[in-house]
Amino acid sequence: MRIVRSIADLRVLLRTLREKGKRIGFVPTMGYLHEGHGALVKQSAARCDATVVSIFVNPTQFGPTEDLSKYPRDLESDQSLCLEWGADVLFLPEASEIYPTGFQTFIEPGGLAEPLCGQYRPGHFRGVATVVAKLFNMVQPDLAFFGQKDFQQTLVVRRMVRDLNLPVDVVVVPTIREEDGLAMSSRNAYLSEDERERALCLSKGLLAAQSAFEHGERSVAKLLELARTPLSGVDRVQYLELVDANTLDPLDRQVDRTSAICVAAYVGATRLIDNVVLTPAHDDAVLNVTLSPQEG
Ligand code: PAJ
Repeated sequence: MRIVRSIADLRVLLRTLREKGKRIGFVPTMGYLHEGHGALVKQSAARCDATVVSIFVNPTQFGPTEDLSKYPRDLESDQSLCLEWGADVLFLPEASEIYPTGFQTFIEPGGLAEPLCGQYRPGHFRGVATVVAKLFNMVQPDLAFFGQKDFQQTLVVRRMVRDLNLPVDVVVVPTIREEDGLAMSSRNAYLSEDERERALCLSKGLLAAQSAFEHGERSVAKLLELARTPLSGVDRVQYLELVDANTLDPLDRQVDRTSAICVAAYVGATRLIDNVVLTPAHDDAVLNVTLSPQEG
């Protein structure tokens, strides 16, 4: 596995691979890697000839009061995990090269960035879209892998790729959970023992609603009620919504199309998000497909 820190070195390395006709897969991350990231890297390694993983804690997607400086880091562990998962290139850019002095050009996502997390993290998806577009330009991957864990992020990225005609196929990989249901997240490292226990409230409710849905429940109110009940164990719920999985518009009565139940809540000082996707049988294969005519 090659470790590359400058954009120039990355371009030289990838040009050689591309000239040899290698199909390049890309997994952008902010590091402090866990098996959730692992699922993305492994899928890329299985489907591509060369896999690039980037680790960059992107300042433009953190709000002024958020945890940028405290974001967990462990480069040594990240490096050995990437190697184990089958990455070929680990790209570790410097903030000064990604955002040189005078940087002033951003990607402005539209309505998909407004509800859910967008309401509570103004500017977050603008920062995500901007850094993802920049990383796409540096790596120029054939396929890029994102986790369903950050459901709204996948929609914002897929729409940006479509709207700006970026030549990359976006693949969405299902959420990886701990054995007890907690969605894996770098932020879980912040949780105390008691908070870790209470963090389970998010997945408990979502998985109960998903199971009821699979047993035929279609009432939005009833599904939301099932998801909401365990949330009495968290400190503050930011949102709990059942939305159309393509537009993020809230559903009001029946789940009659592919939808997602999305939640954001604080446990202590830690903000956690999670979601489940609900797919009525006739809507099968709408989600988790590669968005490309070749692959589709
Ligand atoms: P980060 O939180 O490090 O996540 C990197 C990728 O791993 C994202 O696509 C995320 O959805 C995925 N991921 C995280 N936890 C997961 C889990 N439990 N199961 C499956 N996938 C999971 O998301 C970001 O970084 C940043 O916003 C980034 C896209 C790198 C832009 O800065």
